[in-house]
Amino acid sequence: MHEKDGPGRSAGPVTVLVPAAGRGVRLGADEPKAFVPVGGTPMLGLAVNGLMASGVVDEIIVMVPAELVDTATALVAPAAPVRVVVGGVERTDSVRAGLAAAGDSAYFLVHDAARALTPPALIARVVAELRAGHRAVVPALPVVDTVKTVDSAGTVTGTPDRGALRAIQTPQGFTAEVLRAAYAHPEGATDDAGLVERLGVAVRTIAGDPLAFKITTPLDLHLAEAVLDGTAAVRSC
Ligand code: CTP
Ligand code: MG
Repeated sequence: MHEKDGPGRSAGPVTVLVPAAGRGVRLGADEPKAFVPVGGTPMLGLAVNGLMASGVVDEIIVMVPAELVDTATALVAPAAPVRVVVGGVERTDSVRAGLAAAGDSAYFLVHDAARALTPPALIARVVAELRAGHRAVVPALPVVDTVKTVDSAGTVTGTPDRGALRAIQTPQGFTAEVLRAAYAHPEGATDDAGLVERLGVAVRTIAGDPLAFKITTPLDLHLAEAVLDGTAAVRSC
């Protein structure tokens, strides 16, 4: 497969698949995480607003728990060209459900609802790289902690060179052909690009953004609240 597919690849619509069907076990709130408010607005609403503000998105498909389809529709449909579908048990099941509901699109982004504060400029940069001919694009940040591998007893077995490691964010962008091929066998990867790598397709990294952090734990939620109310300044790249 070629890294670039020629000038004709640059045109065409962008569909975003937004996984929002997780339970949020680590956050421990009373409701599924994507519906937990940050600064008064559910994470899913913030994420969709950010996607629309990017100006580069044609259609959004949101995947949510079955019992929250109506709630999600009332939240996001008035503001954007959004469809809401039922997600699955694992994140890959949810993305696959969104992909099945999508029509013909030239490009797909997959973007976690839990990355609710992602700057619209980052979303636009991912799409620009796709339109420039890259078939798989992910935002990446340097890893700040030393990372070690351990065995089943917890004993350290190695220390990978941190300079070669990156923390990967969303939105992750793909041509439709690449994402559909990746999801023909969606087992065993923790992100969408992981499936694409197995196809032998080059995955391009671009500079990520601290504000695209994933709200996973109660501490993350406090940080997100503080960013929104201005008490924590997080420098966008
Ligand atoms: N997600 C999904 N379907 C699943 C699991 C996760 O759509 N079956 C979504 C989440 O809603 C979230 C994103 O994928 O927007 C990233 O997942 P994560 O941060 O792990 O969220 P949760 O699975 O909800 O959290 P936890 O793992 O703590 O339960
Ligand atoms: Mg999860």
